[in-house]
Amino acid sequence: MEMVRLDKFLTQALAITRSQAKELLSKGRVVVDGVVCKKGDTKVSPAQEVTVNGKGVTAAAEYVYLMLNKPEGIVSASRDPRDKTVVDLVAEQFPRRELFPAGRLDKTSTGFVLITDDGAFAHEILHPKHHVPKTYVVGIDTPLTAEMIQGFETGVILADGQTMEPASVKALSEDGFLVRVQLRQGVYHQIKRMFGVYGVGVNTLHREDIGGIALDKNLAPGEWRPLTEREVQIIRKAAQKKMP
Ligand code: URA
Repeated sequence: MEMVRLDKFLTQALAITRSQAKELLSKGRVVVDGVVCKKGDTKVSPAQEVTVNGKGVTAAAEYVYLMLNKPEGIVSASRDPRDKTVVDLVAEQFPRRELFPAGRLDKTSTGFVLITDDGAFAHEILHPKHHVPKTYVVGIDTPLTAEMIQGFETGVILADGQTMEPASVKALSEDGFLVRVQLRQGVYHQIKRMFGVYGVGVNTLHREDIGGIALDKNLAPGEWRPLTEREVQIIRKAAQKKMP
């Protein structure tokens, strides 16, 4: 971490507002390397010891990376005038962060949404050339056929003429109504449109994996947890792999 303003350091490390940080400073509660410091614009480095009310404060991580199990009915956005968003579900704990979903799920879809404030990371994993694999469990209204499997493998041509990159689909249930789809693209309504080409409707759509990291089974719909550093690295690596 580089040198940062003490007030910013406090708001991020303690997840408090600027005015709360200002109050702590003006009351003389903040001590830097053993000396009371009342000025918010003082620059501090990671090597310095900061205490508040006598307790050591550890710098917040530079960026936030969260795994959310999105429930149905929630929109994949930071803000929305009408609907609750994926960021609304986590925002309380991160009042000073500009969080956004790195990749979208439809309002009716459920499962793994990655929420972050790291724009470069999001760009890396969403860039169309980077091909991070994403896996979905999909309920369809017509049983899967060999024609669909082959079409997905070679690249479905959507109704508007766009050719999709090869994807995989296989049946998860004997009757062929429940399938697993793996995509390396993120075109709007992609799975629904790909099945639409075969006249097949999608009833349910759940994302279970991004870049080799599975949605944590302990997360009920609406629950989230931070991604571990290792998980972030694995997803980052998946973005660097070339298409097979
Ligand atoms: N494809 C869709 O059609 N919807 C989603 O939410 C994700 C992929």
